[in-house]
Amino acid sequence: MQNALHEPQTVVLFGGTSEIGRAIASELIAPATRTLVLAVRHPDDAHPETFERDGLDVVVERFDATETDTHDAFVRRLAAAHGDLDVAIIAFGQLGDQAEFDAEPARAAEVLTVNYTGAVVVGLAVGGQMRRQGHGRLVVLSSVAGERTRAANHVYGSSKAGLDAFAQGLGDALRPHGVQVTAVRPGFVHTRMTRGMRAAPFATTPRVVGELAADGVRAGRHTVWTPSVLRYVFMVLRHLPRRVFRRLPLG
Ligand SMILES: NC(=O)c1ccc[n+]([C@@H]2O[C@H](COP(=O)([O-])OP(=O)(O)OC[C@H]3O[C@@H](n4cnc5c(N)ncnc54)[C@H](OP(=O)(O)O)[C@@H]3O)[C@@H](O)[C@H]2O)c1
Repeated sequence: MQNALHEPQTVVLFGGTSEIGRAIASELIAPATRTLVLAVRHPDDAHPETFERDGLDVVVERFDATETDTHDAFVRRLAAAHGDLDVAIIAFGQLGDQAEFDAEPARAAEVLTVNYTGAVVVGLAVGGQMRRQGHGRLVVLSSVAGERTRAANHVYGSSKAGLDAFAQGLGDALRPHGVQVTAVRPGFVHTRMTRGMRAAPFATTPRVVGELAADGVRAGRHTVWTPSVLRYVFMVLRHLPRRVFRRLPLG
């Protein structure tokens, strides 16, 4: 249960090793926060000590986004163990390699399952839990790649387009029940996911994404662009004729 200052007592990070997810969680953890759950594929990689401080219990739980038939029970078990889930962040995702998908189409399935199916199923499970509680704030890591899909990464882009659409609709569905959903749309962020890639214009860091996302969550926004200028950049890009858009040097 969050306190009168809307400080969460319990925060859950799905994709607990994500650099962006950890930056957002760090910003949303407050003095009143008692429990942080890091839901991760490989518990040995979770490094809970990064967050440890007096009065904060950092719990590591094994979680694989592809095991969709376990997500609802997982969320219910967290709520039974830790009480209301005040803030949840869905940060897991895979970029994949478009050239590999083109050569071997079946390889796209895992990326789609993680980025879309897994995120939707856990989003529904968390949404249901927050609805039963009558409050909660859910943060979903979308991407500008879903705002207008590009030739260079259209599998990833399409998964994020679907996830973003889901987050917007879920937010409207849960709003009357006191639950807020915030879709975060980063551009290029320097993390493990993009290591070795040429940075796109307006590239940023997990810390900046964390700060802007947390500000947006606290302000009650349904969508947060990081950096903020991308909102205006994509207002233009979204409406460019396809023949112009496909020639842009966007990577
Ligand atoms: N970096 C960018 O430029 C950028 C831009 C826009 C949006 N995003 C989105 O932001 C989110 C976080 O990305 P990031 O940059 O922080 O990358 P990251 O550090 O590579 O984090 C990706 C996370 O996804 C987890 N993951 C992958 N497959 C999983 C599975 N089957 N089950 C559970 N967890 C799984 C990874 O866990 P492991 O440690 O086990 O691999 C890791 O925690 C992603 O959704 C990404 O699509 C990133």
